Amino acid sequence: MPDPETVITPYRDGPLLIRGSFKLLDQNGEEIPAAGRETTVALCRCGKSRMRPFCDGTHNVIRFRAPSGAELGRATPGDQPTG
Ligand code: FES
Repeated sequence: MPDPETVITPYRDGPLLIRGSFKLLDQNGEEIPAAGRETTVALCRCGKSRMRPFCDGTHNVIRFRAPSGAELGRATPGDQPTG
């Protein structure tokens, strides 16, 4: 029987949603309990949640902006257009 697929979806202006079987560990290898969220969890990517690493909806309050897809890089002040 194949392993169930785990899918991670960056939501536009919001968290990373993980669906499927996963284990959440801190950098020391200690499991971070995800009570009640064993197959679906939203991880904060705005950095402002009061229950990190989980999303608590604060991204809406601070108007966090990020695309759902990959960013290709950002212009920094002083960047000159090329071409
Ligand atoms: S992404 Fe939701 S609180 Fe940070």
